Parts: sequence; C-alpha cells; structure tokens
Amino acid sequence: MVQWLYMERWTQVNGFYQIYPRSFRDSNGDGTGDLKGIIEKLDYLKGGEHSLGIDAVWLSPFYASPMADFGYDIKDYYDVDPIFGTLEDFKQLLYQAHARDIKVMIDLVPNHTSDEHSWFKEARSSKVNEKRNWYVWRDPKPNGDPPNNWLSVFGGSAWTFDEISGQYYLHSFLSKQPDLNWSNEEVRLAMREVMAFWLDMGVDGFRVDAVRWLSKDEQFRDNPSNPEYDPKIDTDPAHAQTQLYNRFGKELFSYLKELTTLVEWYKDRIIVFEDYPDDHNKRLGTRNYQYLQFYKQVDSKVALPFNFDGMFTAWGADNFRRFITSFQESLEPGYAPAYCFGNHDQSRLISRFGEERARLVSMLQLTLPGLPVIYYGDEIGMEDVTIAPGEIQDAFELQVPGRGLGRDPQRSPMQWSDELHAGFSTHTPWLPVSSCSVARNVATEQETPQSWLSLYQSLLALRRKYAVLRHGRYSEGKGNTDKLFVFKLEDTLNRCDVILNFSDDQIDYRLDRNYDYGYSSLKGEMAPQGQTCTLSSYEGILLVKSLS
Ligand code: GLC
Repeated sequence: MVQWLYMERWTQVNGFYQIYPRSFRDSNGDGTGDLKGIIEKLDYLKGGEHSLGIDAVWLSPFYASPMADFGYDIKDYYDVDPIFGTLEDFKQLLYQAHARDIKVMIDLVPNHTSDEHSWFKEARSSKVNEKRNWYVWRDPKPNGDPPNNWLSVFGGSAWTFDEISGQYYLHSFLSKQPDLNWSNEEVRLAMREVMAFWLDMGVDGFRVDAVRWLSKDEQFRDNPSNPEYDPKIDTDPAHAQTQLYNRFGKELFSYLKELTTLVEWYKDRIIVFEDYPDDHNKRLGTRNYQYLQFYKQVDSKVALPFNFDGMFTAWGADNFRRFITSFQESLEPGYAPAYCFGNHDQSRLISRFGEERARLVSMLQLTLPGLPVIYYGDEIGMEDVTIAPGEIQDAFELQVPGRGLGRDPQRSPMQWSDELHAGFSTHTPWLPVSSCSVARNVATEQETPQSWLSLYQSLLALRRKYAVLRHGRYSEGKGNTDKLFVFKLEDTLNRCDVILNFSDDQIDYRLDRNYDYGYSSLKGEMAPQGQTCTLSSYEGILLVKSLS
C-alpha cells in the first residue's frame, strides 16, 4: 500500500481536461460547439483508439445565458442554453462520461448573474422588491457620481446607474453581470440549492468562478491608487488601483466553507476555486500564501485552488524550479496541487513560449503530482489565433480595445482534422480556425510518432501506470543549474526522476542509479543507457526505478 500524500478524493484522476463548449465540437452545424458535440468526442478523451487518456473534464458554463461573457453571465442556473442543447443532452453527456469512468466537473458562477436573470429583473423592478437585497445597490453621490471608485475587471466603473429605481448596482465584471449580495443569507442558500441540484444529478464537482469578489468591504471604502502601476508596462487599467476593498473581504472563507460543507456530504465530489493571486495588494501576502489560504481556511478534504503560476512564470530553469519547489514545500499533507498552465482567459502555452519550450513545459506539468489541468487543444499544440477587427467576440476586448487583453485568440475551434473548419463544424465557426490546423490536428497527430498528442498520451499513460507521478513526495534532484531543472518523486513503490533541459545546449547528465523505465519528450521510450544521459536542447526525460 502506498502512502497517499494529497487529497483523498479523485485519487485515480491522472489528467483533468478543460472543455470550452463553444469551441470543442459543433454537432448541429450552426458554427458553435455544443453538448452533443462533446458526447461525440468522448472516445477521443478516453477509451477510444489512440485516445488522449484523461479521466476528468471541466466544462466551462453551458447554462442558459445571453452570452455577454459567453456563459459567465447566467440567466438560469437550472437549465442548458439552447445553443448548447438541452438538460437531457447534459444528462446523456454525464451518463456517457461516467460509462467511460470520466468525471465531470461543471462551472459554478456564484458572484454574479446575468442582468436577464429573473432574480435581477425582480430586484431592479423596485426598491422594495423582496429580491432587491439579493444584489448590491447604493445611492449616487450627491453630484450623481457612482458610490465609490471601484473598477470593473473589464474596464470602467464597477457601478451602473439604474434609471428604473434610481440607484447604482455593482458589477465587478460587465454591467450585464450584476454582483449578487453574498452577505444576504438567502443568496447563499439559493446558490447551495443550485449546487445540490447538479450534485444530485451526478456531477463530480464544481470549478467555482471568481471567488475573491464574493466578500467585499462592509463600508464600501474607495480603493487607493496603486503606486506601482505603470500604464506603459501594464496594459490592464484595473491595476491602476490597489484592490483593497472591492474583494477578498473578511467573510470570504466562511462563505466558501458553506459550499464545501455541502460537497462533503457527497461521495468523491470536489471543488476547485478560481483565484488569481493579487501581487499589488501587499496585505494579502505572497502568492503562495494566498493559494494556501484556500486550503487552510476552507476544507482541504474536498477543495483546492488552481495554481496559476505556470501561466505567468518567465522562461528559465531557475524560475520554474523556484515556483514548483516553493509551492510543493508549502503544501501540508492532504493539500492537493492543481497546476493549470493554460485556460480560456490566458494566452496559449505555445504562443507564450514557442513550440520547443512549450513541449518541455508540458512535460513538466504532466510529471508533477496532483491534478494537471489541460486546456483543450494544448495537447495538440494549438496556438493563439489572430483575430481581425471585425471578428472580435470577447467583451473585454470590445471594452478595453487594442491592449492585448481580449481572450478570443485562445478560444478558437478545436482542430480535429485538416478538413474544412478543422473538422470542428460544417459551418463557418464563431471564431476563426487557426492556420496551424493543417499540420496540428487530432487525426494527423494520432498517426504521427513524437507528435504533440503522442507526448500527452504517453505521459498521461505513465501517470496512470505509476501512481508516484500522481501523488509522490516531491523534492529537488541533484544537478540543478540555471539550465537544468531536476526533481524527483517518491512513494514506497517507485522513485521517479525528471530532468528538464531549459537551455538550447546539449547537456550530459550523470545518473546516480540505473532505472527500469525511461521516457524522453523528444524520442519517446528510452532503453536503459548506463550512467550518463545526454539531453538535447529543450529535452526532458523521466526515469522510473522500482524500489521493491
Ligand atoms: C472568470 C472566468 C472568466 C469570466 C470571469 C467572470 O475569471 O474564467 O472567463 O469572464 O470569471 O465570470
């Protein structure tokens, strides 16, 4: 029996895959992906010939929505948007996924609804409506200005004046996404009812959106300006303020605990929190400290935060080693890491690092313990797509144009084949398909040795075979330099050494032991080679040695 170091739920999950439903597979030829399209592709994810080999998916929102923020503006938490299909389709998806032993996590967006949600329509109808206090309303300043200086994540004031009732309402994101009032117990109960509905249906967990905004300063004080903000370097206008008061209020963790208490009742269900550490608000502590609070102060038996540092760490063996070692060493027993190296809000891995380097970083992600979160398409080497002015869809780009903040480039259609529209749809897709789809697509890569896909398939298969990769004890290995990042994972059965060459030099690495199995990110399986391994530029190798 091996000792389990991390969370005791989802222990068999070796790969966790994010699907952005609009962009995965269009089954009905309208140019937008849908739930039936996801069902069609389940065999690709697990079980089929040449499948990827993940065993959990997270679906970005598919709830009924006017799509101002592509589903992160929900108008009915209990239904599926017709563009994606029906509730029956979702039940079918759940059934089919579970038949293949794939867990299904759904997105929960608790901080805000759509302004078209019936709760908000009622709330705005009059100051005395019983839903009024479900949202955040304040009177204008005497001169008519917004109640305070808080900024929306998507640009401009976080307050919109409502002509109907003569007050401002708060929206931390778009004006079409009014913030719910989480200090109101009825709201918190309503959200737990939503969760119970989906848990009872059988979903395996929630990715909980934008959690730090749930709790705000009770006095609604103005945020101070950020003394470090330099608009020439930082393109995001929301960083002009230190966001002291509009988020991360003192009730945050107690609210989140209410959610985990519910989830704990259900067997093998989990919650993953979305929270980007704030580097400007010094009161919150270091990035690791901020991540750790989501384990310590909530419930690490069922919940964990994504670790997003893989999306912001600058290239270099030292940088990646510092990031991983410091985080691993700060974890206490039972805390599971979820390393996220890409998602629907950030530029893709290849576009950040270039192909050779991105391959090495992918190997790093898939050899770290915990839940590696793979963004759809990263496994075939998809790149950010260039969006022409007339093709812009994302409201962030429309509101704060020309600063590279738009998220359309990383949301382009999945590349299934080299056919028209990359086999995603028979219709012109909602976002353009990348020109790289001719070479990089699932069908071609399934036939190509050493393709991107084969790297992911091999490493995921190794994670399945060797539990040490999912839950081993991490420590730095010998021979770390500014070119090499070396670490090892151990459990009672196996030891696994991972040696990553972050440089474009060829490097000889001296092994201190033989190994039973070897894998190279460039060459695939490696026969045992004696005492020295030669790593080509940007090559990573993994060596497993049985301890029994
Ligand atoms: C999260 C989502 C993002 C969305 C925002 C508002 O950050 O990942 O896509 O726009 O929350 O819900």
